Amino acid sequence: MLFVNFEEVLKTYITPLNLITSWSIGSNNCSSIFLTFPQDFSWGVSSSAYQIEGGWDADGKGPSIWDVFTHTPGTMPADATGDVACDSYNRLDEDLYMLRALRVKSYRFSLSWSRIFPDGTRLSLNQKGVDYYNRLINGLLANKITPMVTIYHWDLPQALQDRGGWENIDMIDIFNDYCDFCFATFGDRVKLWMTINQPHSIAWLGYGLGTIPPSIKNPGIAPYIVAHNLIKAHAKAYHTYDDKYRTSQGGLVSIALNADWIEPKDANVPRDVESADRALQFQLGWFAHPIFKNGDYPDAMKWQVSAKSELQDLSESRLPSFTEEEKNYIKGTADMFCINHYTTKVVTFATGKLSPYSYDDDRDVLETEEPDSPTTPFAGQRAVAWGLRRLLNWIKEEYGNPQIYVTENGVPSPFPITIEDTDRIFYYKSYIDEALKAQNLDGVNVKGYLATSLMDSFEWMNGYNFLFGLHHVDFNNPNRPRTPKLAVSYSTDCLAKIRSASSVESVSNL
Ligand code: NOJ
Repeated sequence: MLFVNFEEVLKTYITPLNLITSWSIGSNNCSSIFLTFPQDFSWGVSSSAYQIEGGWDADGKGPSIWDVFTHTPGTMPADATGDVACDSYNRLDEDLYMLRALRVKSYRFSLSWSRIFPDGTRLSLNQKGVDYYNRLINGLLANKITPMVTIYHWDLPQALQDRGGWENIDMIDIFNDYCDFCFATFGDRVKLWMTINQPHSIAWLGYGLGTIPPSIKNPGIAPYIVAHNLIKAHAKAYHTYDDKYRTSQGGLVSIALNADWIEPKDANVPRDVESADRALQFQLGWFAHPIFKNGDYPDAMKWQVSAKSELQDLSESRLPSFTEEEKNYIKGTADMFCINHYTTKVVTFATGKLSPYSYDDDRDVLETEEPDSPTTPFAGQRAVAWGLRRLLNWIKEEYGNPQIYVTENGVPSPFPITIEDTDRIFYYKSYIDEALKAQNLDGVNVKGYLATSLMDSFEWMNGYNFLFGLHHVDFNNPNRPRTPKLAVSYSTDCLAKIRSASSVESVSNL
């Protein structure tokens, strides 16, 4: 077994950042991990543009729907905005410094669409925005860190929302042109792409519940239209990569989907088991089934929405359908499976209401928290590590054993906020253990794990109250100093393990 002197490793970057100098490193290492990481395992951290960059109108950047939303009085707790956030737009070197000291193999970040195209289209190209991402990508490569780039992580240019946003079918071509530009501009150096982050959240939270921008509350119709356009937009961008860039650039293109694991309330009750599977199909299968399986929505979804629509006296299903040509076009448009995962829910059968129309009620399920697992500061999001192993196995079985990257996983800090984040270390340890069990014992093809997140950042509707970072950021200080939390030492130790690819450790409690 390899021992790492964390204090030595950390000192290399603690001093310049004026950070704490001694820790109780103690047991916060990777040694309780059940099994080993494969040598080529991609260990990294994630972030997204609106959450960290700030510089909301710097150097010609156009407004995104999040800028407009957070600037509207009364929308956000404590009037939080991403105007400055971690100020990464002006503190690129500090971000690179943290990443280098973390010694991660990959960094997942997103491009701000309206920083590159202020009005969403190529006509408005903003070279200074492009320069920023070139500096970031070059800086990562200079430090041997693989960039994993999300092309669009929720911050739609406001100018495109003004044209109807994702309810407008024109978005398919508009998004494709943006992706085409990104592939052409950055693809000589970026080899791992995700077109869209969590399309489920965009469709359901953005256009169904309306709890995030663009705040449209049309739960029975808009989410299905939006998802339809998002899937087609993703597929078109994938084909653009295939047709124009794959041969010369040789990268991989996917989409970052999100899913909870769904456990049946009683595994001996067939109706509960069916309900749990149906809930998974409505969440993950909505996007993964067309893209990874056969170009079409899951049968359970087609059946449910069509049956409900009939009972609602509608002349056709609220779930749009794909033509045969579209199915062939969509099927197989991902080179790896990227999954964001945080928690597990328990499900039983319950007849959904018919009025008002709602995606939520279309599912006919009652969802509750997993009662036996530790709570987290995120209401309803318990830390249920075994759920990750089950989810990974489900993906393996359902989608033909794809290569899987866990592109997000993490937990917010409890209050009072402290950098001695033992809860986070516990969360990571137990979730990574389960990912490794899936990898080593179940034969799931887990290629990488990206912890959410590199540093505390703007946590969407929770503003700066929910802090997921491996590094603390002082949002009251204009210099936004970054301080490593204890979990940094844990991450560094896991990396040492990957690098040494040490022999299999004891396996117990399986
Ligand atoms: C998913 C989102 O992709 C990410 O931006 C966010 O930070 C996490 N959820 C945590 O809420």
